[in-house]
Amino acid sequence: MAGPQFPADFLWGVSASAFQIEGAVAEGGRGRSSWDTFCATPGKIAGDETADVACDHYHRYAEDVALMAGLGVDAYRLSFAWPRIQPDGSGKPNPEGIAFYDRLLDALCAAGITPVGTLYHWDTPQPLEDAGGWRNRETALRFGEYARIAAERFADRVPMWIPINEPMVTSIYGYAIGQYAPGEFLLLDALPTAHHQNLAHGLAVQALRAAGADQVGTANNHGPVWPVGPDDGDAASAMDELINRLFADPVLLGRYPDRYTEHLPAGFADDLPAIATPIDFYGVNYYEPQAAASPSPGNPLPFDLVPVEGYPMTTNDSPIVPGALTELLVGMRDRYGDALPPIHITENGCSFDDEVGPDGRVRDGARIEFLEAHLRALADAMAAGVDVRGYFVWSILDNFEWSKGYAPRFGLVHVDFKTLQRTPKDSYRWYRDLIASAR
Ligand code: NOJ
Repeated sequence: MAGPQFPADFLWGVSASAFQIEGAVAEGGRGRSSWDTFCATPGKIAGDETADVACDHYHRYAEDVALMAGLGVDAYRLSFAWPRIQPDGSGKPNPEGIAFYDRLLDALCAAGITPVGTLYHWDTPQPLEDAGGWRNRETALRFGEYARIAAERFADRVPMWIPINEPMVTSIYGYAIGQYAPGEFLLLDALPTAHHQNLAHGLAVQALRAAGADQVGTANNHGPVWPVGPDDGDAASAMDELINRLFADPVLLGRYPDRYTEHLPAGFADDLPAIATPIDFYGVNYYEPQAAASPSPGNPLPFDLVPVEGYPMTTNDSPIVPGALTELLVGMRDRYGDALPPIHITENGCSFDDEVGPDGRVRDGARIEFLEAHLRALADAMAAGVDVRGYFVWSILDNFEWSKGYAPRFGLVHVDFKTLQRTPKDSYRWYRDLIASAR
């Protein structure tokens, strides 16, 4: 089947994050993070699993880089663990942490793979969390300092930077509804954490540029929000403003949606110029659309979250709706116009119950279908004029899926979490062939 066409210089990549794959949480001088603490709290993670070993990428990175090289990707989006680089979240960098990332970046460069560096993928150094984490403005200032350290050490090999991955998830899942670290249940009182992450983003953009970083962007997860019925339009807007626009508008337009400003810290407007420091690309992590209905009596939020029904599902409970990616991207282009820089799809992927068969093969045809359909949807958005420059599959490896533990398998490569053996799935060979033919 002839697939959609992409420009010859389109960036093909894979993504992962430190906490989800590295393991070695007590090695190399790494400090504890909010997620280590959350995992150690009984009942927070399915089966009380932890990321203490995860994929053991800290020790097996060379094998993983070889797998990426075999795939032929142009780029690998990794995250640096803040508590490996600054174990307490402030002060001098930890030489062993720096040395680990030096080894990893050198291996990537030697394999001809461009590293895309995310500075924060949810693993807050525990001393900063103890001092309030993202509730505390000071964390944003510490983050700017961490960004400077990382850029000074690594910008010679990392041309593309993403300060914060999916700040919405940390604010809403972490501080508003308590499903993720640090497990707070503050509802709309969590919104200062959104502002402080937005400020941290802006300060990091400035620090990265000052230290010579080439391209600086962001990565937010976005999805269209659909009203359930004809009277649910305002509820859908309220949800869209909370999960999408609270993070995109200040960065791209220098303002917040009015509805939520009463929940932001006093003086928030003074930070908007820093938050809106221009960026070079906008990373979209796309998984699924959302649906909202008018709030039921007693709901403190201005909408009810309603499951999207009528679509096939992944094992991570995501409805599979490729067309919503086209809708999302065209909608963003229409909303933000010239304020929207070129887009990279910094994550897209799916989890299924992949098993290694008796013949050693992992037949994950459902993943191939998923990725093909999403690439077609992406090509449709590009044909409609949306400027998209790259696509990163989440993820290269099966890994630690946060509060769901190891059950949802997102990888192009299967990981046996008992033996840590890696087995490329059918989708790995499919993506390899697609990349080769797109060049
Ligand atoms: C987005 C997050 O950035 C990543 O950490 C997570 O594993 C995937 N979504 C899949 O849920």
